[in-house]
Amino acid sequence: MASLTGMRRLAAQVLAAVVFTGVALSIGATAASAQGDVNIYSYREPQLIDPLLKAFTDKTGIRTNIVYASAGLNERLAAEGQNSPADLLFTVDAGRLSEAKDAGLTQPVALASLAAAIPAEYRDPEQHWFGLTMRSRIVYASKSRVKQDRITYEELADPKWKGKICIRSGQHVYNTSLTATIIAHHGEAFAEQWLRGLKANLAHKPAGGDREQARDIYSGKCDLAVGNTYYMALMAKNEKNPEQKRWGAAIKPLFPNANDRGSHVNISGMALAKNAPNKANALKLMDYLASEEAQKIYATANNEYPVNPAVEPSDIVKSWGKLKPDPLPLENIAKYRKKASELVDKVNFDAGPSS
Ligand SMILES: [Fe+2]
Repeated sequence: MASLTGMRRLAAQVLAAVVFTGVALSIGATAASAQGDVNIYSYREPQLIDPLLKAFTDKTGIRTNIVYASAGLNERLAAEGQNSPADLLFTVDAGRLSEAKDAGLTQPVALASLAAAIPAEYRDPEQHWFGLTMRSRIVYASKSRVKQDRITYEELADPKWKGKICIRSGQHVYNTSLTATIIAHHGEAFAEQWLRGLKANLAHKPAGGDREQARDIYSGKCDLAVGNTYYMALMAKNEKNPEQKRWGAAIKPLFPNANDRGSHVNISGMALAKNAPNKANALKLMDYLASEEAQKIYATANNEYPVNPAVEPSDIVKSWGKLKPDPLPLENIAKYRKKASELVDKVNFDAGPSS
């Protein structure tokens, strides 16, 4: 059993981490949130969800407060226990949502409207978490140097691409989730060989985020990269860093395995906190976020794919072509993500091609 001092230390560390990474609005023991407000712990950046929360408040009169952090929110929820002010957890990646469930930080939600709006493969079978948007992990290919218009994830390990591929750290959650799908489809031994083949094909050591891989295609360091779909919109529309428009313009999206099982998709999603103090209003917000109105706002603001099949993606997303999602249930990703992470270490993936 954790000692009280240990728990206090953890709480202090978590609080420090949250403050360090930036808190949009502090809620908790000191800064009171009014009774009935919905309190959200979010790994998603506030600007992505603010338009939705504003629309919800305008419609219902129910106010919301967000604590945003890039790490440590699960730990904070655990440390706060029954006294936690959190009603909802927002995060990206089914693996992270499953982690919150497995840690006992969430509770099931039996809302018929959620089950109707969100396809079964994008929610927890026990109703602990629900997808709100989808993104696909695709291949960015050089428009000028790559002639082919189709590709598979398996082909990324083909020696014909030696020295031509760029990717961020193999341990990033986006990549461990992708590797988890390779394990789920082909088994562990195949996935290990795949990682070794991909590593041998890298142009240099994994580094940066997905956008930096597009940058390296633009500058000629590599011909192929692995990246999430929405970054193409973030680059194309980037007025703050207009050089990113050139990175985006240098690549074409290839949806891997479009002719067989489909491309890997992951979700951003939400879960109801185990001790949600404002449960009734939190359920209203969950219901709203899955609605066609909110899904439309989400699709336009984030350039992700709405999970609600009644809502179309934004024009820029549609311009990339048709997404055929791999139907592998997302709980498989949660199941194999730890193994995927172990394999990434085993093959020394992040040391790059020459090690
Ligand atoms: Fe991202």
